Amino acid sequence: MRIGVLTGGGDCPGLNAVIRAVVRKGVPRYKYEFVGFRDGWRGPLEGVTMTLDIPAVRGILPRGGTILGSSRTNPFKVDGGVQKIQSTLMNLGVDALIAIGGEDTLGVASKLHEEGVHVIGVPKTIDNDLSGTDYTFGFDTAVGIATEAIDRLHTTAESHHRALIVEVMGRHAGWIALHSGMASGANVILIPEIPFDIEKVCEWVESRFRTQYAPIVVVAEGATPKDGTMMFAEGQKDSFGHVRLGGIGELIAQEIEKRTGKEARTTVLGHVQRGGTPSSRDRWLATRFGLHAIDAVHDGAWGSMVALHGTDIVRVPLSEATQTLKTVNAELYAEAEVFFG
Ligand code: F6P
Repeated sequence: MRIGVLTGGGDCPGLNAVIRAVVRKGVPRYKYEFVGFRDGWRGPLEGVTMTLDIPAVRGILPRGGTILGSSRTNPFKVDGGVQKIQSTLMNLGVDALIAIGGEDTLGVASKLHEEGVHVIGVPKTIDNDLSGTDYTFGFDTAVGIATEAIDRLHTTAESHHRALIVEVMGRHAGWIALHSGMASGANVILIPEIPFDIEKVCEWVESRFRTQYAPIVVVAEGATPKDGTMMFAEGQKDSFGHVRLGGIGELIAQEIEKRTGKEARTTVLGHVQRGGTPSSRDRWLATRFGLHAIDAVHDGAWGSMVALHGTDIVRVPLSEATQTLKTVNAELYAEAEVFFG
């Protein structure tokens, strides 16, 4: 049997660990052959491949990024995209696909499954916003990087009596902001799920200054102000219709300066959160996902996604996992509010 493997969407630490585990189990245990598809769905769409055998996966466990490359190509936005993928798979003698990705990549996988393609999904994203799994790999690394950065910003903020605003990724979910903000003792955490009141943010900033400490505001890139409280504009869209986020941190800094008279500066962590070596937890989770994904192929569990439930790896339908985003609920956010101001 020949299995195609692809990684789609934003890259994230741990992708190579999945690829390695799939190949390292699939070749000796099930006698499978593998085809690496380049750059997400562009690979099967255009027939762009690379060799994927045991020598190809040597030494990749601790490496960030993906040896297969990635892209945000959406085959459903290409004329005859599904047919092109089906004919690539037939021409190359590929019987099944393992798609490693987030909401968009797995959304495509789910629709292809409905079209009769044999596909298994593996959840990845630093945003941790996929339903059906307790955690995605990449998230732990991103939170660790953001936490370390915020720890460092505390000391410089205090030396200069400045408010420092830290903008983190996460798209429309506040998981990275909430976890890194709580872990690093941020004074304000702003998440997309709960529109913020800039007046309240300024009150927290001022109360922090009164205690002789300098405030750190952690803001998720997708956070938005309550209607009418602050100027705010949306950016460009990608091929899945997602707005390119970023810039809210700078807007908040400007408002804080204007409203409190205190100096406020912004640090945008950006792609640093996604790059480089995965944490040991992410390597562990990604490796287990890979081992279970190849078992799912062996069992012919098409249309399913491997997922973490507690400490168990289980299978859930791709359709369920990609239906709704997993976001931060109000109760969880209220826990962090104890430390605001
Ligand atoms: O989904 C992962 C992610 O890093 C988001 O947190 C962020 O909004 C987006 O990807 C950025 O994507 P790109 O690198 O394509 O701009």
